[in-house]
Amino acid sequence: MTKVGVVYHSSSGRTKVIAEHVAIGAEQMGCEAKLFDCAIEVDLEYLNACDAIIFGCPTYMGSVSGQMKLFMDGTSEVYRYQKWRNKIAAGFTTSSALSGDKLNTLMQIALFAFQQGMVWVGLDLPAGVSASTHTGDRMNRIGSWIGLMSQVNGDQSLELSPDKSDRDTAEYLGKRVAEFAKKLEK
Ligand SMILES: Cc1cc2nc3c(=O)[nH]c(=O)nc-3n(C[C@H](O)[C@H](O)[C@H](O)COP(=O)(O)O)c2cc1C
Repeated sequence: MTKVGVVYHSSSGRTKVIAEHVAIGAEQMGCEAKLFDCAIEVDLEYLNACDAIIFGCPTYMGSVSGQMKLFMDGTSEVYRYQKWRNKIAAGFTTSSALSGDKLNTLMQIALFAFQQGMVWVGLDLPAGVSASTHTGDRMNRIGSWIGLMSQVNGDQSLELSPDKSDRDTAEYLGKRVAEFAKKLEK
């Protein structure tokens, strides 16, 4: 069975919601998907056996959160032996501002994946908001292709924020990664 690992950090739970929807998308494609909160514990043996790994964290001060950076820096042995070489990789981030400099976070995650010898998969969705008639309910409402960007509102409950568009985009990303991981497995 194709295995997908989802490694995330989430302080107040919103990035975790996105991570869960990414995993749901991969499972809908018939993959096994396991979530790891990198601030708690990550099973590197499981990740070493994965066909794809998807990384996500909140954007803090325009970059990956410190907890995600600690996880990344802790994978130097994986890097040394290129244990994740040729695995599929993708990324997601949340932040409170529409931009919030999320691009830098996804670039950091992508660069990390490239250093690990992984094969990066982005989003192939048109921008969800690009005309006066678009209300933000379509997927990829932030308009990002390197990976999933989610904008969250700290004054709303976890049921409302991340919103449906971002959850749907997360499931789509999980499916897309699963599709490539399955191709690679053949
Ligand atoms: C230390 C810190 C730095 C932050 N920096 C940014 C930022 O650069 N841009 C932004 O839009 N939001 C920023 N935020 C808001 C977080 O990105 C937002 O709260 C996060 O997406 C929530 O994710 P979580 O619920 O998974 O913890 C920051 C929050 C904290 C605590």
